[in-house]
Amino acid sequence: MKGLFITFEGIEGSGKTTQVRMLDEYLRGRGFQTVTTREPGGTEIGDQIRKVLLSPDNSPMDPVAELMLYEAGRTQHILEVIAPALGVGKIVLCDRYFDATTAYQGAARMLPRDMIETLNRIAAGEAVPDLTILVDLPVEEGLTRAHKRNRELNLTGNEDRFENEKLAFHERVRQGYLDIARSEPHRLKIVDGTKSIDEMHTDMVLLLEKLLGNRMGDAGFESRVPSPESRK
Ligand code: TYD
Repeated sequence: MKGLFITFEGIEGSGKTTQVRMLDEYLRGRGFQTVTTREPGGTEIGDQIRKVLLSPDNSPMDPVAELMLYEAGRTQHILEVIAPALGVGKIVLCDRYFDATTAYQGAARMLPRDMIETLNRIAAGEAVPDLTILVDLPVEEGLTRAHKRNRELNLTGNEDRFENEKLAFHERVRQGYLDIARSEPHRLKIVDGTKSIDEMHTDMVLLLEKLLGNRMGDAGFESRVPSPESRK
């Protein structure tokens, strides 16, 4: 695949969604073609699956059923959105991806690791991120922010199934993410989520610029100007 695939991960209230929007603007300002998307969701089918997954009415849901719904949405997402964009050299920014499955369904819901890895591999195929930015911060801080956001949006009482989980669940999610970062330090880069929005943005721009610098020399990467070969 010719483009660049960048994913963003973190616990609830890590502020990654704001960062994805800021990076998208930054990259467009630099003349790159981008696609911003998210999981669960990103397609019409995916958005329907998202509703099933997040609705508090669907508690309790069997963890394996939950896992397979995430993977089903992911398969559709890659087929319809991610692979086509990467195929024409765009930069894809995705708010959550398969590391969320490892952290939430694996570490937090405690499904067996090989089950998660197998299904992630089946769903994702070759669509492995070039870079994953993990926004890390203490769970209490993240949840406080998530609840504040819900209050501001007048969503109190409508938290989704995950926001309703106990502190220990979110602690396992955080540790799950940190474990992935330890085992794949080249792909996963940690950004300190206790920093200000602008400081985090600066850190992420540095990570992106480094990646872009490495990839600019690659014959395949052509997000800015279509090469004559790509038009043939
Ligand atoms: P969302 O409202 O998008 O949360 P956020 O803004 O924090 O990203 O809800 C997505 C929820 O789905 C979030 O709690 C994490 C969870 N999730 C999983 O459990 N497994 C997955 O594979 C993915 C992609 C998300």
